[in-house]
Amino acid sequence: MRQPTILECTVCKRTYDSAVLRNLCECGGPLFVRYDLGAIAAANRDGTGLIDRSRSDMWRYSKVLPADASDAITLGEGWTPLLPLRRLGAQWGATRVLLKDEGLNPTGSFKARGLSVAVTMARLLGAKKLAIPSAGNAAGAMAAYAAAAGMEAHIFMPQDVPQANFLECKAYGAEVTLVNGLISDCARLVAERKSKEGWFEVSTLKEPYRIEGKKTMGYELAEQLGWRVPDAILYPCGGGVGLIGMWKAFEEMQSLGLIGAKRPKMISVQAAGCQPITRAFGQGTEHSEFYPDAHTVASGLRVPKALGDFLVLRAIRESGGTAISVEDEEMMDAAAELAANEGLFVAPEGGACVAAAGKLIASGFLGRDEEIAIYNTGSGSKYLEAYGIRFPRVLSGEQDKLGGLITPR
Ligand SMILES: Cc1ncc(COP(=O)(O)O)c(C=O)c1O
Ligand SMILES: [Zn+2]
Repeated sequence: MRQPTILECTVCKRTYDSAVLRNLCECGGPLFVRYDLGAIAAANRDGTGLIDRSRSDMWRYSKVLPADASDAITLGEGWTPLLPLRRLGAQWGATRVLLKDEGLNPTGSFKARGLSVAVTMARLLGAKKLAIPSAGNAAGAMAAYAAAAGMEAHIFMPQDVPQANFLECKAYGAEVTLVNGLISDCARLVAERKSKEGWFEVSTLKEPYRIEGKKTMGYELAEQLGWRVPDAILYPCGGGVGLIGMWKAFEEMQSLGLIGAKRPKMISVQAAGCQPITRAFGQGTEHSEFYPDAHTVASGLRVPKALGDFLVLRAIRESGGTAISVEDEEMMDAAAELAANEGLFVAPEGGACVAAAGKLIASGFLGRDEEIAIYNTGSGSKYLEAYGIRFPRVLSGEQDKLGGLITPR
């Protein structure tokens, strides 16, 4: 039987009934789903198990998700591979470097996890129309899950998002508004229009369920390692919800008796052109400040101010981690090196973490014998414009112009 959940404010600790669809706490703080972990652990001691091993998607963890797998709007998200980086690791002199490849999710990014749970819960709790401000990939994921649920999707994203994000949203039948600005401008437009239009807002951390999907990255990592955690995690930090979600997952897993007290060093990786968390970490502040003129090819990292910044910074500090930024050129170089050495074609956000890992090993912050898990959050195939600049196609003569061998002459 499903154990009841409550919603708890991350700021003032006020609790709410989880049977009502909500955005933030009255104080403005993000809400987290809280489970009766003691009861869940006790109910599963009889051998039924906490994990549904018959499922090779993230709904194998439905006992610590807010809905039953039978109610899930799912496209097969999660249970992505954890791969050793043998050749690149060897170049760094490190032997235990792993990459969790979230690019293999439906819609080509880890955003599928959060939107699967968010759309599932919005539908179960009575919403009909969904709206999202997005840096790009969350929009694509929401459009896909809304389509699968038969719900309306209203998308607001920057007009210069990767073409893949625009096209996928259109193909999934969403209503797309391209905004001359950043995700923060998109968020303002959704906030202004949502009550008049009857939209439920699915902004990251402004509803309690996307983080529940993202936390499964932490459950999966531990399960794939045989129920233990690595020494360090590198995560590309935009809104930071993946990092906060994994931090929540580790706490839950310890309460469930799945792992011990050890925590990985949580390392936030940002782009030099938009690095509010790196800056706040360096300055020792609890919150970040709005980052002006945000720009980077890693469109998912173009988040000038995150609602959950204080939770990201807290997790980094409590874990003994750090926050680091890399230039666009460094992330694209690292992504190209990863592709050429390991056969993995990753998003620039993943490339940023690869570049950061190399730097932190070289600086000694990460030991060469430590187990390091790098998150690649998206597929390189969604970033053809960025790769097109990194690998310009030189057209030479008529043959190329006509499309080469497959063009009839
Ligand atoms: C590929 C990719 N990586 C990372 C992020 C940042 O995600 P988070 O909100 O978990 O920091 C995004 C967000 O748009 C993204 O699309
Ligand atoms: Zn509150």
